[in-house]
Amino acid sequence: MSELNKVDTGQLLEAYRHTEGGLLPCLHEIQKHEGHVPTHLIPAIASAFNLSRAEVWGTLSFYSFFRTEPQTKYAIQVCQAESCQSMGAFRLMSDLSSALDADPNLRGRVATEAVYCFGNCACSPCARIDSDVLGDVSVEMLLSVARSHVDGVKHD
Ligand code: FES
Repeated sequence: MSELNKVDTGQLLEAYRHTEGGLLPCLHEIQKHEGHVPTHLIPAIASAFNLSRAEVWGTLSFYSFFRTEPQTKYAIQVCQAESCQSMGAFRLMSDLSSALDADPNLRGRVATEAVYCFGNCACSPCARIDSDVLGDVSVEMLLSVARSHVDGVKHD
């Protein structure tokens, strides 16, 4: 674990939660210490600032300087919001992560990232790869896209 990870996120949330406009500086501090704003912190951030998870996600995704994953070559964003949850998004994310880990060509080169609603709920479960939002996704479909992307990167 790096020196950057020694910050106590709970203390940061407490320090900023009562400050008007405190969300952005708090997110900056988290990213400064963690290298990114981990998506598993979104529920705690939302609770601290009395916001919905979607509002926190909206802020993170609006500002391009925020990262929700350590920088990797490639990320697959998988929606974890309610409609996609009801269509198996948690299992999809778990199975996709396992499949990526099991594939020596993809391991460490492709990351998964939890996001909260692409506005494509009618086609749940959804994922985004680059700027493309895909609906009715499966692990096999996402692995296929990841393989073609990584192969493309490999030959650049
Ligand atoms: S809940 Fe997944 S796209 Fe809206």
